[in-house]
Amino acid sequence: MAKMNITLRQLKVFSSVAKHLSFTRAAEELHLTQPAVSMQVKQLEGQLEIPLFEQLGKKIYLTEAGEEVQHYSRAIAQQLDDMATALANLKGLEHGKLRISVATTANYFAPHLLAAFTRRYPGVNVILDVTNRQTLLRQLAENEVDMVIMGTPPAEMELEAGPFMENPLVIIAPPGHPLANQREIPLKQLEQEVFLLREPGSGTRSAMERFFARHGIAITTSMEVSSDEAIKQSVQAGLGLGVMSQDAVEMELTLQRLQILDVAHFPIQRHWFVVHRRGKRLSAIAQAFKSFLLDEAAALLDKPPG
Ligand code: PGA
Repeated sequence: MAKMNITLRQLKVFSSVAKHLSFTRAAEELHLTQPAVSMQVKQLEGQLEIPLFEQLGKKIYLTEAGEEVQHYSRAIAQQLDDMATALANLKGLEHGKLRISVATTANYFAPHLLAAFTRRYPGVNVILDVTNRQTLLRQLAENEVDMVIMGTPPAEMELEAGPFMENPLVIIAPPGHPLANQREIPLKQLEQEVFLLREPGSGTRSAMERFFARHGIAITTSMEVSSDEAIKQSVQAGLGLGVMSQDAVEMELTLQRLQILDVAHFPIQRHWFVVHRRGKRLSAIAQAFKSFLLDEAAALLDKPPG
């Protein structure tokens, strides 16, 4: 082949004719006249020095060469699309806001993830809110945030949710608690204990209540406490036992200020999810953060993936 000076425009016109097998329909699709379409195809055939269509009666068909060209045109169009997306993302990722809200218990790991993410995209301006499940759901409903990190989202809302990490809920007790040295404590025995409860609207609280109800265990509750920090302090102070995401108590476990009781059927197995409204058009930054959570968060935190 002497010299191939084909243009993207010729390929585009060719692809449309090949798709419709009609010069007229291609002309309509491309808002061109039919002679203009024919001319582009003729020029392309001239450049490639081989016919791409053949006419039998009133119908046109792709020649074998035409099929080859169609195959490569598709690949080229796809590459052009990918290039545009990559560039758009680059532009979008240079600066911009990421509005995210995380469940109170996710607060113990989310900043580490945000630190890693903003090291990669230093221009990103993060607005982080830490609140309970009920508020997260309201923020999603009112489109106040790009996405949230929370426990299992409700099935009845129009949401897109991807699990990215395990989120075991454990029973925490102060050091020296009488049950601390027992193994496989039967659930029934918890009926002798007193539990602290998170506020209504907490995902931890509803997971805990569902769990005990499912196992037919009637627990006694003492205080209602509206934050994980206060629950931990209250448990250390001997006010009762707590149920909490293991992610929220790691420091206290290391410092031996709290311990996990070895109770049958525990931990309650949950997952952390990244959640946004179904159909929400995520910004390039938000999309990058979502992929980051799904692909990298668990490994980064050295945790089992979702
Ligand atoms: P929360 O978080 O208890 O702070 O609401 C856990 C969850 O979203 O399930």
